[in-house]
Amino acid sequence: MHCHSLARSTQLLTFANSVLKRSSTTHRYVICKNASTVSSPIVVASIDTSTTTASCHSYGGKQVIQVNQALYDYVLAHTREPQVLRELREETSSMRGSQMQVSPDQGQFLAMLVRLMGAKRCIEVGVYTGYSSLAVALVLPECGHLVACERDEVSLGVAQKYFGRAGVTQKVQVHHGMAIDTLIMLLRKGQANSYDFAFLDADKRVYRDYYELLLQLIRPGGLIVIDNVLWHGKVAEPQEKDAKTESLRRFNEFIRLDTRVDVSMVPVGDGMTLCRKRDMV
Ligand SMILES: C[S@@+](CC[C@H](N)C(=O)[O-])C[C@H]1O[C@@H](n2cnc3c(N)ncnc32)[C@H](O)[C@@H]1O
Repeated sequence: MHCHSLARSTQLLTFANSVLKRSSTTHRYVICKNASTVSSPIVVASIDTSTTTASCHSYGGKQVIQVNQALYDYVLAHTREPQVLRELREETSSMRGSQMQVSPDQGQFLAMLVRLMGAKRCIEVGVYTGYSSLAVALVLPECGHLVACERDEVSLGVAQKYFGRAGVTQKVQVHHGMAIDTLIMLLRKGQANSYDFAFLDADKRVYRDYYELLLQLIRPGGLIVIDNVLWHGKVAEPQEKDAKTESLRRFNEFIRLDTRVDVSMVPVGDGMTLCRKRDMV
């Protein structure tokens, strides 16, 4: 049975989980991953209650928390962000595309996953100025290795500066160029089934292509984390029919049915799906 209300509650959670900035001239909401980039005036979506209830009776009145601005600020205030990541976030905040950066709580979540897995070999598709890459690299052991794929030279320059500042340059292999080419190259070099962890955060319209390549590169039991799966809540709004929203909907449905992986869609940031590669792929 379809349960749009549950999707709606997830969307609201994600929507409120981001910081909302409303321009006084256009009255359009802009969702920022990065709280510190928000400049005044800030108008927060008004949310009267602190929970959303699944309206399908089969969920037994299950309530989930709504993350309004006060609560999200509380989450951020209880997030451990290394100094070097804070400095990177602050420098990025004045750059074009700063809203693309993962939030500190997302960075901490990625680092926690890497630590829990004891991951040594990681891949990131979509580095930008390096926040998520650095969050991962900082918790890799000295023998650890992160393949960082990014096509934009300017943002990559900032990332490399901070990799140096954090003393992790030796752990990060930067690949400037189209990420698909890099992933294919890794496979041609015989690196299938050799990576522990991948983070996918690049062009949403070709997520499926990246995913198929990453699934080959990841070992059984390894993890692929995919960002922006809720796409500012648009995936749950039927009237939203732009190409990125449609492709994310198709991708999310594909992942739901993909028996090669165990899955969990988590409404952190703009929504992250965790895919653990099963043994029999
Ligand atoms: C959402 S941002 C990544 C944010 C990053 N994870 C962070 O936390 O700061 C997406 C990045 O993917 C890059 N990108 C998009 N398409 C790409 C491609 N085909 N190959 C390599 N990089 C690509 C963009 O240049 C952009 O910097």
